[in-house]
Amino acid sequence: MVTFKHFYQAGDSDLPTILMLHGTGGDEKDLLQIADFIAPKNPKLGVRGRLVEQGMTRYFNHLSNGSFDLESLASETNLLLIEIKRLAEEYHLEYDKMIVLGFSNGANVALYAMLNNLTPIKTGIFMHPMILSNETASTANIGPVWLSHGILDPIVPERIFGLLQQKLAEAHADVTVFEHNKSHEVTMPEIEDAKKWFDELNTK
Ligand code: MLT
Repeated sequence: MVTFKHFYQAGDSDLPTILMLHGTGGDEKDLLQIADFIAPKNPKLGVRGRLVEQGMTRYFNHLSNGSFDLESLASETNLLLIEIKRLAEEYHLEYDKMIVLGFSNGANVALYAMLNNLTPIKTGIFMHPMILSNETASTANIGPVWLSHGILDPIVPERIFGLLQQKLAEAHADVTVFEHNKSHEVTMPEIEDAKKWFDELNTK
């Protein structure tokens, strides 16, 4: 049986659940402090990537040549979405209204699912994401998304981040970008900008 570790923190049940998806080497509670800062009243659900590569948790594998394993990406995304849906039922949460809070590997897997129209989830905060595959995104219909990027990030070069923005535009997303002149790290001004975006989202 496929199992995922997860963490759930109840909140105001009228508000959308924040779905926390960690970066490589993280776990289901990694983003809780950031989620509590950005969305203090919302329920929180974190799911841990079930794969381990070089001792680090992930949502999908690499191939031995270091590139992304697109078969693993497709099958693991499918399993992850089944689990999120199951958890939504278990905790009586609205799956399609969830708002992703993802960092790096977790942001990437969520955006892959959204761009390929594999999930009804349309909104999210994506810290230091990138594009993983080059499929068409035009069948997807994504809503407001917030993205961050570090200009000096060797993991997400400017060109790859640009490609992600292009795919999101094809998928009709309303994209807000926060850029800092650092690398792949999450900074306090970045978190504050995400909170501002989130607060405005809720007043629209
Ligand atoms: C990925 O594997 O999704 C990206 O390289 C980002 C990361 O290292 O998690």
